Amino acid sequence: MKARNLRSVPQLLLLLAPLLTACAPFMIESEGHRIFNPVYRGFLTWGLRDSWQRPEEVIAALAIRPGQVVADVGAGNGYFVDELAAAVGAEGRVYATEVQQIMLEDLHALVAKGGLANVEVIEAEFDDPSLPSACCDLVFFANVYKEIQDRVPYMHRVGRTLRGGGRVAILGFRKDVRGPGPPPGARLSAEKVIEELGRAGFRSSARHDFLPRQYLLIFELGEAGSEPLAN
Ligand SMILES: C[S@@+](CC[C@H](N)C(=O)[O-])C[C@H]1O[C@@H](n2cnc3c(N)ncnc32)[C@H](O)[C@@H]1O
Repeated sequence: MKARNLRSVPQLLLLLAPLLTACAPFMIESEGHRIFNPVYRGFLTWGLRDSWQRPEEVIAALAIRPGQVVADVGAGNGYFVDELAAAVGAEGRVYATEVQQIMLEDLHALVAKGGLANVEVIEAEFDDPSLPSACCDLVFFANVYKEIQDRVPYMHRVGRTLRGGGRVAILGFRKDVRGPGPPPGARLSAEKVIEELGRAGFRSSARHDFLPRQYLLIFELGEAGSEPLAN
């Protein structure tokens, strides 16, 4: 396809978006939680996503070292999984978690097909990261954080999954940008995310704004004495 025509594809999809979402909503209700509708999961791994998601730059900004343990919470059908697996290397580990059966099946298929021996797929609970305690150097939320319902207590639980010096990374769609991604009402501003993580006991340690549609926020556990919300 000519580059000119490729550029018009996202515009066409934007025009079709109201029709598509009238047929099948972008978000569905599952066990009382509003989550991504898996009928759209083909868009998560669609080649055109790379142009604005820039996965290599995201992985570089996460500053993962070989041998580290990383959780990809709400990994979907695995858009970031193989790049994370490559970043941690054979001595490291990736926990790819999901709450939806169809996504879990896709993740298992991806791991089998790619021979990703350092990736473990985990069926998570909606209100719990379902990870071992003190297991992770990095817990990564790519376009997922907004789908978590009671986020402050949830993130407090995430804090318990971090090893010393562990970090949390949150990639989310900006509210002020239109185009591919969740509807405006299903987006959270970076400021809101920083405020919520502060209440869960984290401090913001870096903010990356190199992506055209999204922010990437990095957090560490707060200083001793800044007690996170108890639950
Ligand atoms: C928009 S998709 C993003 C998938 C993937 N991270 C990506 O960027 O391509 C959000 C995913 O998060 C999952 N999800 C929602 N709430 C979750 C939770 N509490 N724990 C784990 N996964 C969750 C949904 O099932 C959905 O597959």
